[in-house]
Amino acid sequence: MKRIVILGFMACGKTTVAKELARQWDCDHVDLDSFITERHGRSPAEIIQQDGEENFREIETLALRDVLQNKDVRVIALGGGTWTIPANRTLAALHDCLSVWLDAPFELCWKRIKEARTVRPLAPDRDTALARYESRRGDYATAEKPIAVDEFDSPEALARQILREP
Ligand code: S3P
Repeated sequence: MKRIVILGFMACGKTTVAKELARQWDCDHVDLDSFITERHGRSPAEIIQQDGEENFREIETLALRDVLQNKDVRVIALGGGTWTIPANRTLAALHDCLSVWLDAPFELCWKRIKEARTVRPLAPDRDTALARYESRRGDYATAEKPIAVDEFDSPEALARQILREP
């Protein structure tokens, strides 16, 4: 089976589903945001706040390129904006990854964003987050496997669904 990249809007569940997928599949996985944090000693949010989004996107693409070099990593959770960058989509295609979009409704993402203690500089308020959500859907929709997510879907069930119908 192909390697899998999990994409979707902030707080759609990428990290938890990727982790669960790797558990069920018994393989290695990487969370791109965590990889960047370890490599640079700063979180994506901090890099965006201190250096700007454009600089962060360059760092993110280099990180994705390096993560993809490791063939043992079968599952990668992307950041919310990773899939909107054409170079990143090309990298995933070149490495023969199956792209899986966790398509969660905006209200669910926004509820989780508000409740989370994580700082999300690109979603500082509801209007900004909604505009970003809408503008990104076209890019997310280019994923090979869209999965509709609602608040009752457990990570276990979503991972099973991804593995059942590759
Ligand atoms: C971003 C989402 C974040 C992180 C960075 C940028 C985005 O990841 O990569 O802050 O552009 O949507 P999550 O989707 O895990 O919040």
